[in-house]
Order: sequence, then C-alpha cells, then structure tokens
Amino acid sequence: MARRIAVLNQKGGVGKTTTAVNVAVALAQMGKRVLLLDLDAQRNATQFLGLDEAESKNGADALVLDGTFAPVRSVLVPGLDVVPATAQHALLERRLFGDAVSGPKKLKKALNAIQEPYDFILTDCGPTLGMLALNAVAACPEVLIPIELAHAATVGALTLRKWLDDVRVDVEPLVRVLGVLPTFADDRERTPREMLATLRTVFGADLFETVIHASAAIRDAAGQGRPIVLADPQSRGAAEYQSLTQEVIARGNP
Ligand SMILES: Nc1ncnc2c1ncn2[C@@H]1O[C@H](COP(=O)(O)OP(=O)(O)OP(=O)(O)O)[C@@H](O)[C@H]1O
Ligand SMILES: [Mg+2]
Repeated sequence: MARRIAVLNQKGGVGKTTTAVNVAVALAQMGKRVLLLDLDAQRNATQFLGLDEAESKNGADALVLDGTFAPVRSVLVPGLDVVPATAQHALLERRLFGDAVSGPKKLKKALNAIQEPYDFILTDCGPTLGMLALNAVAACPEVLIPIELAHAATVGALTLRKWLDDVRVDVEPLVRVLGVLPTFADDRERTPREMLATLRTVFGADLFETVIHASAAIRDAAGQGRPIVLADPQSRGAAEYQSLTQEVIARGNP
C-alpha cells in the first residue's frame, strides 16, 4: 500500500510545489515508485516538470471526476509518474462542490482503484482550503506543511491544523500532520531564528529536523525546469531536500 502524502498550506508561495517536486524526485532517485499529482489550478508542478503541453484529457481533473488514470511515465527520472493539471482544471473545484456528499472523497476513490504498486503518492495542493484540498487530504492523509520562516506564519499554520482536525472528524479519520517544514530560512537574520523557536514550541515533534534555506540555486534550478536534487545534487539545497526525504521515509506509518 502506497504512503499517501499531501503537501498543503493555504498560504501562497511557501514552497509547496518545490517541496512536492523535489521530494518526489528524491524518492524516485532512491528507487521508490512514486506518483505525483498536480492538484493546483495554477498548474505550477506541471509547468515545473515541463508537462505544460500535456493538454491531454488524462490530467488530475479526469482522475478526480471519472477515475481515468493515465499518468505521464518516468518524468525526469525512472520511477516517477505524474498526473498533470490540465487546462480544464479550473472547473474542477466547482464541479466537486455540486456533489456535497461524495465530492470530498472522489480522489480517494480514484486512488484506491489504481492497481500499480506505488510506494508513495504525493499531491501538490494550491493555496486554498477548498474542495480540492479536502479531496487531497481525504486521499492523502499524511499532510506535509511547508511554512515560510520569513513571515509570522504560525497563525496560518494553526488555522490549518484546526482545519485538519475538523477534516479528521468529518471526512477522513486517518488525517494527520506528517510534519511541518520550515522553508526560506536565512541564518543571517534574527526573525527566522525566533520564528523557528516559536514553531518548535507550537508544533513540537511535528516539526521536521530539516530546514530548507532560501537559496538562489533552488529558485534558479526551478526556473529551468530542474528540481535542485537533479540540477545540483551536491548543493546545500539538494542536501536539505534529500535529508527531508529521509525524514519522510522514517516517519512512515507506525
Ligand atoms: N528554498 C527556496 N529558496 C529560494 N526560492 C525558493 C525556495 N523554494 C521555493 N522557491 C521559489 O519561490 C517561489 C514559490 O515557491 P513554490 O512555488 O514552491 O511555492 P508554493 O507554496 O507552491 O506556491 P503556491 O502557493 O503559489 O502554489 C518559486 O518561484 C520557487 O522557485
Ligand atoms: Mg504551488
């Protein structure tokens, strides 16, 4: 049974897509079979991976609505399959709202029907807590929460944790915080250090040991459609994402 992980934070630009893509690639580099789903209407993961021309019918919308599963195979590395977000994705949220009863569990149903022996299924979510986010966590109940250290992000993260608590009660009992990941750290600044201390107090053991630093290399690699773990495996950014990936593996279901 695949471990299913949703990368989620309702705040925009905190490193969700960067994290989902780098962890997915790093897992595949370790020989795991990985499926990455782009569930964000912005389609950033799809663009990041150069699948923008994949205007096929077989994107995340077809998977959620009809259970059609036809991923793009071996993207960037062997063992990484991707379900891109297509141009039709924008309508998905609204279509799901029309079905209040089964709407939240449509993706879960679709993933349960997949026969292929994935080790990990990762979902990149958009910066909202709507019906797609609900589908993501109902289907992928281990939730990885990137938090941007540069800003006072604790309040938003607490809102998210409360939302996840409600979803656990109302929709999917398996929902849990896999880990909180500090991103955009800058060792030279005092505020992020204080933020990190606050996050430790608030999230305790949920906080990952790994911290992702703000890095031009990560951003520049992304701009060229290359996750840092592939573009420059010896860089600090790559080492941080490799270390996060080890933590993700180690935090597997007990
Ligand atoms: N550690 C980092 N250092 C520098 N730049 C980064 C880092 N991580 C991500 N970025 C850049 O910051 C921007 C936002 O990152 P990303 O797209 O991963 O965030 P997101 O949370 O997915 O955003 P959205 O909420 O819009 O989906 C991107 O341009 C990305 O390349
Ligand atoms: Mg994103």
